[in-house]
Amino acid sequence: MSDQPAILVVDDEKNILTALARALSLDGYAVVTAASGEEALRVVEERSVDLVMLDVKLPGMDGLEVLGLLRSRSPDTPVVMMSGHGTIETAVRATRLGAFDFIEKPINVERILVAVSNALQLGRLRRENVDLRRQIEARYHLVGDSRPMRELRDRIATTAQTNGRVLIRGENGTGKELVARQIHQLSKRRTGPFVRMNCAAVPNELIESVLFGHEKGSFTGATETRRGKFEQANKGTLFLDEIGDMGVQMQSKLLRVLQEGELERVGGSEMISVDVRVISATNKNLEDEIRHGRFREDLYYRINVIPLTVPPLRDRRDDISLLCDHFLRSASDEHGRKMPRLAVDGAQALCAYSWPGNVRELANIIDRLVILGPSDVIDAAAVAQVLPLQALEPACAEMPDTAGGDELPLRERVRMLERELIERELGRHSWNISSAARSLGLERSHLYKKMANLGIGRND
Ligand SMILES: Nc1ncnc2c1ncn2[C@@H]1O[C@H](COP(=O)(O)OP(=O)(O)OP(=O)(O)O)[C@@H](O)[C@H]1O
Ligand SMILES: [Mg+2]
Repeated sequence: MSDQPAILVVDDEKNILTALARALSLDGYAVVTAASGEEALRVVEERSVDLVMLDVKLPGMDGLEVLGLLRSRSPDTPVVMMSGHGTIETAVRATRLGAFDFIEKPINVERILVAVSNALQLGRLRRENVDLRRQIEARYHLVGDSRPMRELRDRIATTAQTNGRVLIRGENGTGKELVARQIHQLSKRRTGPFVRMNCAAVPNELIESVLFGHEKGSFTGATETRRGKFEQANKGTLFLDEIGDMGVQMQSKLLRVLQEGELERVGGSEMISVDVRVISATNKNLEDEIRHGRFREDLYYRINVIPLTVPPLRDRRDDISLLCDHFLRSASDEHGRKMPRLAVDGAQALCAYSWPGNVRELANIIDRLVILGPSDVIDAAAVAQVLPLQALEPACAEMPDTAGGDELPLRERVRMLERELIERELGRHSWNISSAARSLGLERSHLYKKMANLGIGRND
């Protein structure tokens, strides 16, 4: 009984109510009837219905009025209007008010059943959509209850109420992208698109067309007219990730668009206006970049109206255990494993580590523990196997040229380990020396010296 879709039929003519109730029940629906708008509203207060069939002409409150109220109280329930004296204008008004369909009397059962099945299908899609949205929100949920995290969450909430441009700073893997998505999700623009552009990943000569689009034939390879990220993000949010890596020339063009709110596609002649909120992120020290002439100061002020900083994980160690729990759950789900328990000494070992790669590194380590570690309890020994600094032996064993490494003198082994760690860190930072140096706690020049000394170079 309960999995039959429930349909509420509202009409003041008793014989229509009876006829419709019969036809619909025969087709396997659960039918509830109401003889007036007021009664219909009472019914939907009390029980859930999947569809409302609503007569336009009712005693008391008229059908269109009831429609408006239904739409505001229960926006996901589809409504099909019925009318014996249907004029085009009433149908248009009903559609504007959100009716799904409009049927003229006298009632044709076949026509009704088609409309009902379509409307129910719409209702299912709407519910699915709500579920998916909820899942997305859960995926972008910011885990953490430490003081810095609570403060950040408050700032995100206030920032989301505004349209101001946001600059998010923070080390690698701290959750900058997650913060940008949260701001979007909590803002009025949430039903609009969230478009991400990684400024470090697009070659300089393409970035203008990726950002602003291009007209067909404007350059070799432009075989189609394309909308750029700015246009794609219209009515939504554009997330300019790694903005510190944007070339200076492109910075000037971006500045112009931010000042004027209008853009021109590459090879285009028309100005296109866009309504976009820009959120930028970087792990670079932009003040330093400005000092070295690599970042335009005027652009900096334009993008940095609301500054947000995501603190490194080592400054909010209270969050580590919550995050471990969160990632243990999601990794076990993903890999179809039973969720292992984290032993007290295992948790201590994870909390003591410095997490240079922040939350991303923690997520990866937990992933590895779930795949490779013991299936029941994760203890300190299991953690030592996967943490880079404490796992000296396995780290050496992984290296290609360590055959017989056990016989090498300690100094040589330390050298090899050092090389391995530095290469790994460079890899993690896409060979950006400054970021790698920062997360290793070294001066940039010191890291250069070490790289020369250890013979580290990029070989691609
Ligand atoms: N507070 C958090 N709660 C749950 N997951 C988090 C949290 N912070 C980060 N993550 C997860 O860690 C990973 C890295 O986060 P994100 O990509 O947002 O970081 P980022 O600062 O943009 O990193 P990068 O500088 O490397 O681009 C993602 O998988 C993200 O879902
Ligand atoms: Mg990022």
